This record gives sequence, structure tokens and C-alpha cells, in this order.
Amino acid sequence: MFVWAILLFSLTITFGEKSVKYAAVIYRHGDRTPVNLYPTDPWRNESLWPVKFGELTNIGKRQHYALGKWFRKRYSHLVSEKFDPSEVYIRSTDVDRTLMSAQANLAGMYTPSGDSIWNTDLIWQPIPVHTKPEKDDEVLAMKKKCMPYIKEREKYFHSTSYKERLSKYQGLMDYLTAYTGKKIKDYEDINDIFNVLYIESLYNFTLPNWTQSVYPNKMKEPSCYSFTTATATPLMARLMVGPLLKDIVAKMNTVILKKKPNPLKLSMYSAHDFQIGNILSAIGVFDGNCPAYTSTILFELLQDNSTMEYFIQMSYRNSTEIIEPYIMNIPYCGKICPFERFLKLYDNLVTVDWNYECTKQMSPFIGACFFLGLFAFMYVVYKIQFTKFNEKRRVQFAYISVYSPTAVQQKI
Ligand SMILES: *[C@@H]1O[C@H](CO)[C@@H](O)[C@H](O)[C@H]1NC(C)=O
Ligand SMILES: *[C@@H]1O[C@H](CO)[C@@H](O)[C@H](O)[C@H]1NC(C)=O
Ligand SMILES: *[C@@H]1O[C@H](CO)[C@@H](O)[C@H](O)[C@H]1NC(C)=O
Ligand SMILES: *[C@@H]1O[C@H](CO)[C@@H](O)[C@H](O)[C@H]1NC(C)=O
Ligand SMILES: *[C@@H]1O[C@H](CO)[C@@H](O)[C@H](O)[C@H]1NC(C)=O
Repeated sequence: MFVWAILLFSLTITFGEKSVKYAAVIYRHGDRTPVNLYPTDPWRNESLWPVKFGELTNIGKRQHYALGKWFRKRYSHLVSEKFDPSEVYIRSTDVDRTLMSAQANLAGMYTPSGDSIWNTDLIWQPIPVHTKPEKDDEVLAMKKKCMPYIKEREKYFHSTSYKERLSKYQGLMDYLTAYTGKKIKDYEDINDIFNVLYIESLYNFTLPNWTQSVYPNKMKEPSCYSFTTATATPLMARLMVGPLLKDIVAKMNTVILKKKPNPLKLSMYSAHDFQIGNILSAIGVFDGNCPAYTSTILFELLQDNSTMEYFIQMSYRNSTEIIEPYIMNIPYCGKICPFERFLKLYDNLVTVDWNYECTKQMSPFIGACFFLGLFAFMYVVYKIQFTKFNEKRRVQFAYISVYSPTAVQQKI
């Protein structure tokens, strides 16, 4: 008892109460219908499905509504009951199912009450969701084109370690190619099939017999491994996940350095399994499981009320069910990571200057055009100068020939 009392006492001395000062949450959309159905799929007819392919279903809406209620509870001390745009910013990828998930989520989080009710027939209020076309979005969609990234990815795909690992699945890929009517050549392709079969089984559609020997067991590992390939090298991780993590730590810095009187309290990002997988992999905590519907990563900035120090806690809600998130063990830092240490550990990600790094290196084609243009220009300049110089010489020569006695003599 006494020992425990001392231990408890020393704990309360060194660590005060920690409370959340800012949070960034990134979640996956809810239940959806399949995309990328394979050519021989018996369930390819879209009218068999409740909504068009790739769209959020009613199940998905309910899942996000429930998650929104959970966010309201978790962050009740952080964000006001009444919507305040200075407290919260919601951003989605520009895809129907993520935009709709964000809206269903906010319907649960900001269910109006009191004077927020604007229509007694509709206990819902509009909340802004911001977005950007995917091809222009390097931050959340992670889809904006970047030549140095593409080059690095090519190098990775041609590395022996990548090829050797993938070759273990050659038999599986040949089998899938034969039965799906589609060339299956990498982890992403395996995952596309895995995903379709997963959704069909969720929807109680009988899977073709050929799937029995490979689905889900043999396909699961390579399918979920696909969530690591986009951030496979430090440079790929930097260019892929850097902009988002940089954004998040910048918001945290605004709180810590008190740069604004009313800093943002909560950023909410509505995205896909792709982004969830990329972030987990880049941080080094991906556990090999494909991210489930509504799975959520939480980056929370905590402050200790006795030492006033700041920490980052990263948690992951790896289920579609409403469960409490697991606190991630940040590599080399643990479950509660001092903010400055986190910045040092993830220096490779948070120091990215995406626009500069993705445009400074010219593609070979643009480079070739540039040099050709330069040579053409120099040639033209040279030509002009040369003609001028010759004219000058001619003039000079004429001058000499007129006034030099020898020249005159010669002329005569
Ligand atoms: C899809 O199913 C609907 C309804 O069962 C049917 O009318 C339609 O012909 C089917 N389309 C194809 C391409 O099989
Ligand atoms: C599939 O069947 C199960 C068990 O009967 C049921 O609980 C579930 O709601 C069904 N799924 C869908 C999407 O209809
Ligand atoms: C698939 O397998 C089931 C039993 O495992 C069998 O009854 C059925 O006839 C098979 N279907 C085909 C098309 O082979
Ligand atoms: C920190 O917060 C806890 C719980 O709210 C409180 O009991 C404690 O007195 C606070 N400590 C300081 C130094 O403010
Ligand atoms: C979720 O994460 C916990 C902790 O890492 C793990 O034990 C559990 O198996 C995971 N669940 C799923 C469905 O991945």
C-alpha cells in the first residue's frame, strides 16, 4: 500500500493532468458499393446493388452518423455544441462517398438544438465541408502529379527486394488472372479483387467457387500490403504524406506558440483507406490489416497542466464498430510523444516543400525541350551577332580601304 501510495504520489508530481488542445482526425468513408468489378464477376449488374457503384450506402451513412456522435462526446470539452467556424475545419477528398460521409458525420456531431434549429421538421443543420479536385490536391487526396515521386516509385518497383517479395505471389496472381479475366500483376490489383469479394460477401452475394481456395486467407496479406507501397521509401513517404502531416503540425504550432487568439481546435479529414494506410505506414505503425470503413486516425496535441509541456498522442480506431481507439506506440517515442521529439523523428515528413520539390526537377522531356529551345535561341543570337560583326568588319574594311594609302594604292 505504502509503495503504491509513493508511486502514485511521484506520478502525480511528475505528470499533471493532460488535456487535448487540438486534434486532427482522418477517417475513411463508410460502407459503399464496389468499384473496379472484374470482367467475369457474376454481380456486375449495377441494378443488383442498392446504389450506383462506388457510392455511400445507407449503412455507410448510419456508420458515419454514429461516428459523428462519438466525436461530439470525445471533443465536447474542445469544440462548442454550437457550430463555430473558428474552432473546426472539415475537409474531404473530392469524391461523392467521402463528401457524403463527412456530411453524415457532421449530422451526428452537430445535431442542432435550441436556437440552432432552423426548421422543426428537420433536425439537421448545414455544416461546411471543404474540398479540392483530386488532381490538384497533394494534401489530402495525395493525387497531385509529382515527377520526382513517379521516378522514385519506378525505381522502387524495379528494385530486387520489391520484385522478389512480389514473386512469392506469382502463383496467386496467375490464378486470379485466369479466373477474373483481368491481368493481375501487383499488390494493388490483388487488393482490387479482394475488395470486391469482401463487399460482395458483406452483401450476402454467393462468391464463385474458384474464390474458395484463395479468398480471404491467401489474398489478405498481399492485398493489405498494398497500403505500404505508396510510401515505400523515405522520399515517397515525404512527398506523399509530408504535406498533410506538415499541415497538422503547423496547426499544433499555432496553438503552442499562441500565434492566434482563437486557434483552430479540430481538423477533420474525410478520406479513403489509401490515405489511412499511407499515414500509418509513413509513421511506421501499419499493422498489416486493411483499413476498415470509418476507421480513424487521431493526432491529438496534449498539454500537461503542471509542466505546461506539449505532447502528441496518435490513436487509431481500427473498426467500423464504435470502439475506443488504440493508442499507437510511436516508434522511438512511445504512446505519449513530446511534441519537439515528434518533429525531430518525423523531420523527413514535416519539412517537405512539396511545390518546390515536385517542380524543381524537370522531366526528361521538358528538360530536352528546354535545352533544345536554349540552343535554338543561342544559335539565333549568334547568327544575329555574327551578321552584325561581319557588317561592322565590312564597314571597317571599307573605311580602311578608303583611307589607308596602301589600300588606296592597291585599289588603284
Ligand atoms: C441488369 O438487371 C436488370 C434487372 O434485373 C435487368 O433488367 C437488366 O437487363 C440487367 N442488365 C444486364 C446488362 O444484364
Ligand atoms: C447479410 O446477411 C446477414 C445475415 O443474415 C444480415 O445480418 C446482413 O444484414 C446481410 N447484409 C446485407 C447487406 O443485407
Ligand atoms: C460450387 O460448389 C458447390 C458446393 O461446394 C456445388 O454445389 C456447386 O455445384 C458448385 N458450382 C459450380 C458452378 O461448380
Ligand atoms: C491539473 O488538472 C487536474 C484535473 O483537472 C487538477 O486536479 C490539478 O489541480 C491541475 N493541476 C494544476 C497544476 O493546475
Ligand atoms: C486493432 O488494433 C488492435 C491493437 O493493435 C489489435 O489488437 C486488433 O487486432 C486490431 N483489430 C483489427 C480488426 O485490425
